[in-house]
Amino acid sequence: MALKFIVLVIVAAITLQMAEAQSGVNAKGITFDLFGVPVTLYCTPDGNMGNFGPAAPPFRGAEVQLQCGNSEIIANSTTNSFGITYLVTEAAPVFSFFPPQFNCKIVVDTKLSSCNATLPFIGFLESPLEFVGTYLQKNLKIANFSPTGFSYNPGL
Ligand SMILES: *[C@@H]1O[C@H](CO)[C@@H](O)[C@H](O)[C@H]1NC(C)=O
Ligand SMILES: *[C@@H]1O[C@H](CO)[C@@H](O)[C@H](O)[C@H]1NC(C)=O
Repeated sequence: MALKFIVLVIVAAITLQMAEAQSGVNAKGITFDLFGVPVTLYCTPDGNMGNFGPAAPPFRGAEVQLQCGNSEIIANSTTNSFGITYLVTEAAPVFSFFPPQFNCKIVVDTKLSSCNATLPFIGFLESPLEFVGTYLQKNLKIANFSPTGFSYNPGL
């Protein structure tokens, strides 16, 4: 069930971007049309499923941002009722931050306390990225990245 929704979210997000997609070549000659990051977020102290396993509650309605360089927001999106979202952006904005897995990260801009009042109302969740691979969807070459695992940053 959840997988079906991940696919729906991805297709919807890609469709939105398709009209504007701008193919790009970075300094290293790597080409792709879109940059995508599927994100699943849980309402737990560190945002991961962790020891809760499949029983971990989803973090719904969380604003998730792709931040690169000096906290520049490149893309944002909000998690659905399964805690799932898909960040997608044209290739061009991320080229100045190549390679993105070293220059970009995922930041959650919604306080944990909004999903569970016992969780912190300060700080934020964040995760580094790793490169997963590229694939073709409707003639668009998509470079997919994945969060390596969220952690809680008290932001002090
Ligand atoms: C993205 O960020 C803008 C500016 O902060 C905000 O108005 C918008 O609601 C956000 N979109 C999503 C889907 O979270
Ligand atoms: C809220 O978080 C606390 C502490 O992590 C946890 O014990 C509790 O089960 C959570 N409640 C819900 C409804 O998820």
